[in-house]
Amino acid sequence: MLELTNLHKTFAAGTPNEKKALKGLSLSLDAGDFVTVIGSNGAGKSTMFNAIAGTFITDEGKIVIDGEDMTFKPDTYRAKCIGRIFQDPMKGSAPSLSIEQNLAIPYSSTKKGIFHRAISKKDREYFREVLSKLDMGLEDRMNVPIGTLSGGQRQAVTLLMATILTPKILLLDEHTAALDPLTAEKVLAITKEIVETKKITTLMITHNIASAIELGNRTILLDDGKIVLDLKGDERKNLTVDSLLKMYREVKGKNFDNDRMLLS
Ligand SMILES: Nc1ncnc2c1ncn2[C@@H]1O[C@H](COP(=O)(O)OP(=O)(O)OP(=O)(O)O)[C@@H](O)[C@H]1O
Ligand SMILES: [Mg+2]
Repeated sequence: MLELTNLHKTFAAGTPNEKKALKGLSLSLDAGDFVTVIGSNGAGKSTMFNAIAGTFITDEGKIVIDGEDMTFKPDTYRAKCIGRIFQDPMKGSAPSLSIEQNLAIPYSSTKKGIFHRAISKKDREYFREVLSKLDMGLEDRMNVPIGTLSGGQRQAVTLLMATILTPKILLLDEHTAALDPLTAEKVLAITKEIVETKKITTLMITHNIASAIELGNRTILLDDGKIVLDLKGDERKNLTVDSLLKMYREVKGKNFDNDRMLLS
């Protein structure tokens, strides 16, 4: 479903600030894989997402999504098959538009301009149905501006927006990191439910080792622009927070002292 082959990306090449962010990164995902992505600050996790989404064209390597070579395709083209959510709940939705208007955006974005199509009664019923699944009472507040919602509520709606048309790939970049622990747990549960029901191939970056183990069917560890651990099947089934930290230490040869990786 997703084939990343030998990706290289250097920022500010040839200057004193040169940074090799991706150094021959390769990854092959099957349809429906739900992969958790871990690694220290600056390991290249978000850069890998940017490469997949087409924020930049990589210096080397190949990117294939569902059989289609995307290596030189612009981000606007790739956006049609990629859903992406960031850490900041304030991004990803339009604050002055209502919940239902925000949920209608994905339907319009493939056509010229936003709100090409009016929201029909059927759309509204569907939005009400998906919102009620969040169990946040938002189905009764579909006309309130999304800017008035809490961060967790807003992130949950952003998740619906990103998945309402069932993308081929879903990229979650620490999407619960800015939420309080209980809300984060709820948004993670909603994420799991949507990803599993819709069988969306998903990559989720997290600094929470426990979530990395608990969610999904595969865990990869990025370090210095490459994948250094790839755990799936039986090896992953028996994984604990301690054993994963031990593997990480073996790979890195150091502790997490300066990392914001959470240990619980
Ligand atoms: N647009 C850019 N210009 C210059 N350097 C960049 C750019 N984007 C990323 N980098 C550098 O590439 C390296 C990898 O950054 P990246 O954002 O991918 O890390 P990350 O693994 O997502 O880290 P974090 O956990 O802190 O989010 C870092 O050293 C970063 O400073
Ligand atoms: Mg990042």
